[in-house]
Amino acid sequence: MINAELIQLITRTILTLESEMIVADPTFGEYALHADIEQAKTVKVPVNAIDGHVAFEAILAAVTDKTTMVWLANPNNPTGVFEKSADIELFLTKLPSTVTLVVDEAYYDFVDEPNATVAPLVAQYQNLVVLRTLSKAYGLANLRIGYGIMQDPLYTAMQAVRLPYNLSTYQIVGGTAAILDQEYLKRNVAIFQSERTKFQKFLCDQGLMFYESQANFFWVKVGEVKKVGQALLQAGYQVNDRLNSE
Ligand SMILES: Cc1ncc(COP(=O)(O)O)c(C=O)c1O
Repeated sequence: MINAELIQLITRTILTLESEMIVADPTFGEYALHADIEQAKTVKVPVNAIDGHVAFEAILAAVTDKTTMVWLANPNNPTGVFEKSADIELFLTKLPSTVTLVVDEAYYDFVDEPNATVAPLVAQYQNLVVLRTLSKAYGLANLRIGYGIMQDPLYTAMQAVRLPYNLSTYQIVGGTAAILDQEYLKRNVAIFQSERTKFQKFLCDQGLMFYESQANFFWVKVGEVKKVGQALLQAGYQVNDRLNSE
């Protein structure tokens, strides 16, 4: 299944008209987009402004009897900030078991710490779902393939909602070959990690405010975004014009 499709299916399966979903703010926009489509309410809990970490206690405080789902992109998009498995597990122990926690590990391959995943916890927590994509570290965005790790009854419910024949042979064969080629992934990730360290040093040298990233991008405070966008365009770099908040 593709990751974006998993986001849509989980949202469709879990959220109802009356229910509430909690996300960190900022985070990947597709979670709220699909909650909007289901006409559910999205509650946004700001990340810690100083270091970009997810405010777990504030999320717990935002849980109501209507909350059915919490999303966590880890590392988060667009901040790049990574939450340790121990912190996520502590959060899970405090979260009502009726609330599903979806940890989207789209960028987890880029994390310095080896095996920085909460996937093994799925066996222990029925309300935990882990999502992965081959669009990032594997460099296969156009193949449109990813996967989810979850328990029943969610798995069976999602199978009922999913369209039949949702993957082509190309996706299955290509995706399997990519996952089997872990040497290629390791080489790719090592390059990203070393470039990330260099870029972080550059940002420090420039005196810019940024969040420590464990992904393949940085959240940098640049002041006047439009001006920076124009300057980058003149230098031959086209940047996303939706970056208009700070
Ligand atoms: C956190 C996160 N999850 C999921 C996706 C979607 O990945 P895919 O290409 O597999 O749909 C993205 C893409 O930017 C992302 O940033």
